[in-house]
Amino acid sequence: MSAVDIIIQEVAPRDGLQIEPTWVSTDDKVRLIDAFSTMGFTRIEVSSFVSPKAVPALRDAADVFSRIRRMPGIIYTALVPNLRGAENALAADADELNMVMSASETHNMANVRMTGADSFRSFAEIAKAAKTAGVLLNGTVATTFGCPFEGRQSPERVIDLVRRYLDLGVDGITLADTTGMANPKQVASLVERVLALIPASGLSLHFHNTRGLGLANVIAAYDVGARRFDSALGGLGGCPFAPGASGNICTEDVVNMAHDLGLKTGLDLASLIALSRTLPALLGHDVPGQVMKAGRTLDLHPKPVLVRA
Ligand code: COA
Ligand code: ZN
Repeated sequence: MSAVDIIIQEVAPRDGLQIEPTWVSTDDKVRLIDAFSTMGFTRIEVSSFVSPKAVPALRDAADVFSRIRRMPGIIYTALVPNLRGAENALAADADELNMVMSASETHNMANVRMTGADSFRSFAEIAKAAKTAGVLLNGTVATTFGCPFEGRQSPERVIDLVRRYLDLGVDGITLADTTGMANPKQVASLVERVLALIPASGLSLHFHNTRGLGLANVIAAYDVGARRFDSALGGLGGCPFAPGASGNICTEDVVNMAHDLGLKTGLDLASLIALSRTLPALLGHDVPGQVMKAGRTLDLHPKPVLVRA
């Protein structure tokens, strides 16, 4: 039995920072990731090995990987769109390659300039390279619950892509709601179907809170058996190639909710909140997280004078 009830992968260093207009220095990225490494995470998405023209904010991925202090028991993962990215991630000693393509052909073209067929041709080569190197392999289906250009994607399409990833021998699958279009009923129905294909230990849900349904979707997925979720400190995040994209579900908000529900996360909530409160100064703007503003549910306040007397 696992010591935690749900596994939360921190994705702020990758999904969070990829959309930030202000350059975050390599030193600051390393500081952030090293702090996460002390807070109980077992999975951290460190960066992505993509074209520096496409995502300038993460152009220092190799430097970041070389400078972070790796802690035993933590999987430091890297997003890769193509073989070139996978080779660079392997050279940087990533523990896991996270391949990404979209259920929607239009978003795949906008995001990685490939058809779905092109993406899978390149994934076959990546899978070979990962097996040879002995690193873990994850397959992400972006726009699973809807695409900002095409609308809803059929569950059959998503399930077909999951099967194709499984045929390549991936260790895990991530269903991503790239622009926060998912609703709890849709989530429950699809997650149930996908859990017939893979165990809960191999399925992650990646929700964005674009329309305020992020945590409701977590509960809907949890209730039908999902146990792994991506989230970003402060609720940072968003895809630069999807109009209207905004923040991931917020790590400290998810953790606060989980702890209130009696679910163990293994994470240090007070330290997460303290770290989240440093983000506005780092990024030059307010962040969407709510618990970093309101405090934990049971952080009580001194009684008013009137009541004390
Ligand atoms: N890492 C770094 N550079 C890469 C790269 C990689 N993985 N793959 C390609 N490149 C470089 C090429 O060398 C070329 O450089 P040049 O212009 O200096 O010659 C340039 O990127 C374009 O290469 P090309 O193969 O023609 O790719 P493209 O323009 O069709 O773009 C991707 C394809 C996948 C590289 C690009 O769309 C991309 O990086 N997308 C990432 C999107 C992303 O991260 N989205 C958010 C996460 S879901
Ligand atoms: Zn995302």
